[in-house]
Amino acid sequence: MKIVVMPGDGIGIEVTRQAVKVLKAAVPDPGKLDLVEVPVGGAGLEAAGDPLPPDSLKAAQQADAILFGSAGMPGDEQLPYDKRPGASLLRLRKALDLYANFRPATVFPELIGASTLRPEVIEGLDLMILRELSGDAYFGEPRGFRTNEAGERVGFNTISYSESEVRRIAHAGFKAARARRGKLCSVDKANVLESMVLWRDVVTEVGAEYPDVELSHLFVDAAAMMLMRAPTRFDVIVTGNVFGDILSDAAAMLTGSIGMLPSASLGSSGVGLYEPVHGTAPDIAGRDIANPFGSILSAAMMMRYSFDDQQTEARILAAVRKVLADGWRTADLVQPGTRAIGTEAIGDKVVDALHGS
Ligand code: IPM
Ligand code: MG
Repeated sequence: MKIVVMPGDGIGIEVTRQAVKVLKAAVPDPGKLDLVEVPVGGAGLEAAGDPLPPDSLKAAQQADAILFGSAGMPGDEQLPYDKRPGASLLRLRKALDLYANFRPATVFPELIGASTLRPEVIEGLDLMILRELSGDAYFGEPRGFRTNEAGERVGFNTISYSESEVRRIAHAGFKAARARRGKLCSVDKANVLESMVLWRDVVTEVGAEYPDVELSHLFVDAAAMMLMRAPTRFDVIVTGNVFGDILSDAAAMLTGSIGMLPSASLGSSGVGLYEPVHGTAPDIAGRDIANPFGSILSAAMMMRYSFDDQQTEARILAAVRKVLADGWRTADLVQPGTRAIGTEAIGDKVVDALHGS
């Protein structure tokens, strides 16, 4: 099990450390784990003058799976793209052609009171956002800055999707829905954008191959509203890169904290990348208060998606639930009757729970 660990920057470093600890305790044969840590983001820039050092990329390309923390430095969008720590993740996604980003949002019964939404709205929440990850305005060309006739600066990007790009993510969406509750909602903005007219056409066309999956379509504004009003109506949501970025943060808050959310990114190359949905959180980095559950649960997803080991995934999930049921929380989740402990201590509790189970 060749796993490349990329802690990156900010809280990525401390949460990834917990996930590694949990992995070592959870897998049936730790001797089979081949873990290599490499720098990315600000750490890469410091170590090798490049936020995605060639050696780190090479290691990633040769791995079975990547455990990624988070990358970025405050204000780094001022730097050129290839020197920007925060862009290292985008470059990695592109280089590995990771086009299918699975972002599950489930609510642990123990955390139902931690959400800002009423318990009856989120009870039983179990949805999957499938975000297209390699196209859209994130990578569309042309992009850049220019000066217009009036001498003003103009920033511009291109939103575009080709049929093959939509087709492959649509297939991933239908397959995911088939393995769950059989419902797929495609989210677009076909009332305004040509790229999204094409999106809707292609998703509908692919749908003919999956008569057992119930397909619906929503415009993204309506989908955002429905996510707040009746989120349990969703099973799988398939959407583009930009809408998926936004809707997945919104969905994260349904669950109580963005710190809880894991993700898996898969592509054509066979290597999977696993990362918490949250970012570097520089304001709390290095203080041992960050929530490591998103990273730990990402390691659990790795077991299923890269190593076809649903048993280990289930054991990690059960250990996390045990820790929550025992009342242990990080500061972002603390509620009356529960206790906040540090990042490291949460990792230790999950390991203890694994050994006890
Ligand atoms: C995410 C993040 C990234 C994105 C940033 C850090 C580039 O917000 O994974 O959702 O926009 O994709
Ligand atoms: Mg995001």
